[in-house]
Amino acid sequence: DGVDLAALERVACEVAGTAGRLVLDERPAELGTTVKSSRTDVVTEMDQRSQELILERLAALRPDDAVLGEEEGGTSGTSGITWVVDPIDGTVNYLYGIPEYSVSVAAVVGDPAGPDGRPVAGAVLGPARGELFHAHEGGGARLTTADGTRTLRTTDVDDLGLTLVGTGFGYVAERRTRQGRAVADLLGHVRDIRRMGSAALDLCAVACGRLDAYYETGLNPWDRAAGQLVAAEAGAVLGGLADVPDGDLAWAAAPGVAGAFGDLVRDLTTRHGIPASGRA
Ligand code: IPD
Repeated sequence: DGVDLAALERVACEVAGTAGRLVLDERPAELGTTVKSSRTDVVTEMDQRSQELILERLAALRPDDAVLGEEEGGTSGTSGITWVVDPIDGTVNYLYGIPEYSVSVAAVVGDPAGPDGRPVAGAVLGPARGELFHAHEGGGARLTTADGTRTLRTTDVDDLGLTLVGTGFGYVAERRTRQGRAVADLLGHVRDIRRMGSAALDLCAVACGRLDAYYETGLNPWDRAAGQLVAAEAGAVLGGLADVPDGDLAWAAAPGVAGAFGDLVRDLTTRHGIPASGRA
């Protein structure tokens, strides 16, 4: 509808790049933290500085768009586009100096938290690994590193038993216990499990074949908007289920295992949940 999606992709890349340089180059030796939903769910001062910088850049480049960020301070807009941003996805890795963290920036049309929200352009930057994953709707998914840019495709695995699966867990104990039960059941059906610590990068890992599939319950829009687009544009099948007991299920899988994988994770996450009133 008249929007230049390739231009939005360039904005996503530029903004993620600016924030990525900040979090990589200015990471203090001692990170100040504040606690969120549980004492292991922390926000660092760098999450906040990164989001401030992203808001500043987006206000300059796309003044009519809204911004929804993981940290406080989102803005409203008039264009119908919302930038959904995670200033540091994988905060616990960042805290511990593990390089698997990212800056995630997506342009979403429609309500980003609702079923109709549609990411149309996005970028996920892993600054410590020098990897920039990016895509726009209909344009394919690409990975840019110091060595250049290449197009991404999922693996061609077609056997659930040979599927390498990524997942993640929320921060609150009750939810984690249920997620752990589901993952314990999954283990017998697949090649193996990885819990790498950044949902945005996990989705990009499906896009580039480092994982065959990924699922998680209870993700927020900023954890997944850009990564889901990158995965879809690399040929992954996306699925989900609203209202599973731990919050919406979201999954992405290589097309050869998507049917079987989607059925399995739907079944396991539904079976191991408890009623919605027990959500955490
Ligand atoms: C978290 C990471 C993690 C996932 C959690 C997310 P944060 O995001 O993406 O991999 O398992 O559900 O909350 O808190 O590091 O931005």
